[in-house]
Parts: sequence; structure tokens; C-alpha cells
Amino acid sequence: MKKQAIVGVCGSIAAYKAPEVIRFLREKGWQVKVVMTAEATRFITPLTLEVVSGDQVYLDMFQRENWEIAHISLSDFASVILIVGATANILGKVAAGLCDDLLTCTICASKTLVIFAPAMNENMWLNPIVQKNVSFLKKTGYLFVGPEKGQLACGKTGWGRLAEPETIVNFLEEKVRRNG
Ligand SMILES: Cc1cc2nc3c(=O)[nH]c(=O)nc-3n(C[C@H](O)[C@H](O)[C@H](O)COP(=O)(O)O)c2cc1C
Repeated sequence: MKKQAIVGVCGSIAAYKAPEVIRFLREKGWQVKVVMTAEATRFITPLTLEVVSGDQVYLDMFQRENWEIAHISLSDFASVILIVGATANILGKVAAGLCDDLLTCTICASKTLVIFAPAMNENMWLNPIVQKNVSFLKKTGYLFVGPEKGQLACGKTGWGRLAEPETIVNFLEEKVRRNG
């Protein structure tokens, strides 16, 4: 199995933990390409993720290189897609089949394992619509790691905390191994 991962980063406060996840992946021999949503760039800079991933960061669906269409070539590259700090928004968009940016198009165009590591406020996570989207995504074959219960960015304690970076990477490796 080629150790090639796409890490999608969303507009969650937990985006600041994405570099640590990427660092662990690279320590374990993974080549990582990062796709950021537009909102993710409000929380963490592409420059930071370029440096930790050792590659360019993909942001724009309409930016083309060597006549390659980014979401198709990215889907072909990946043996796993991991979304770190998956927002209520991206869960809803993927569950609804929406493809309005590079990350959602890449997920939709891919036949590989997709793992969501969600992070959000407890009320958002427990919202029945979000929970309905999560169970539909699970039934469809998408995998989830976390969220966990603990201290949240909003100052409260509850469900919605991003799983620990090491937990996320161990989960990914285990699922990829099983997937063969
Ligand atoms: C300070 C701040 C923190 C946020 N944290 C989260 C979060 O942890 N999880 C979440 O689902 N949305 C969060 N949001 C809302 C998202 O940024 C918003 O839904 C955005 O449209 C998500 O875009 P994306 O899914 O394309 O990245 C936060 C917004 C702000 C202003």
C-alpha cells in the first residue's frame, strides 16, 4: 500500500492541531498533500502547512498545473483522505453530495478510505441534523475518529474535542492496514 495521504483542513479552531497530525504522519513515512478550505486559511496559514508537509498546499479548484485537474489528480494520488478538524459544514456538504470547493470535490471523486476527525462545539456536534449526517456518512462507509469529550475551545467541557493527533494517526494506520 502506497503511504500517500491527503490531509484536508477545515475552518475549525482545531485546525491549529493539523500540523502535529501531519508531522506524525510524516514520521511514520507518509507522503502528505494538504488541501485547505477557504475558511481554514482564517485559522492557520498555508505557509505553515507547506513547511510541515514539505509540499505545496492545494486551495483553489481552478488552479491548474501541467493541465492536470487538481481534484482528479489528488484523488488518484491518495490511499487515504483524512479531514482534520472536520466541521459541521463539511459533514453536511459531503452527506448531501455537494461539491463546491476543492476538498469536497476531491472527496467525492475518490474511491479511497475517507476518515473524518471532527471538532466542534458540543451543541453543534449533538445537533440532530449533524448526528443524522454522521450516521448517514458512517452507513455509506466513511470513517470517524473522535470527537472526544473534554475541554473545548469555547471554554466549556463536553463532546466535540478533536481526537489527539497520535490517536488520529494510529487510527488511520490501522484502517489502512486492514483495507490492504
Ligand atoms: C472562531 C471560530 C471557531 C469555529 N470553530 C468551528 C469548529 O470547531 N467546528 C465547526 O464545525 N465550525 C466552526 N466554526 C464555523 C466554521 O468556520 C464555518 O462553519 C465555516 O463555514 C466552515 O467552513 P469549511 O467547512 O468550508 O471549512 C468556527 C467559526 C469561528 C468564527
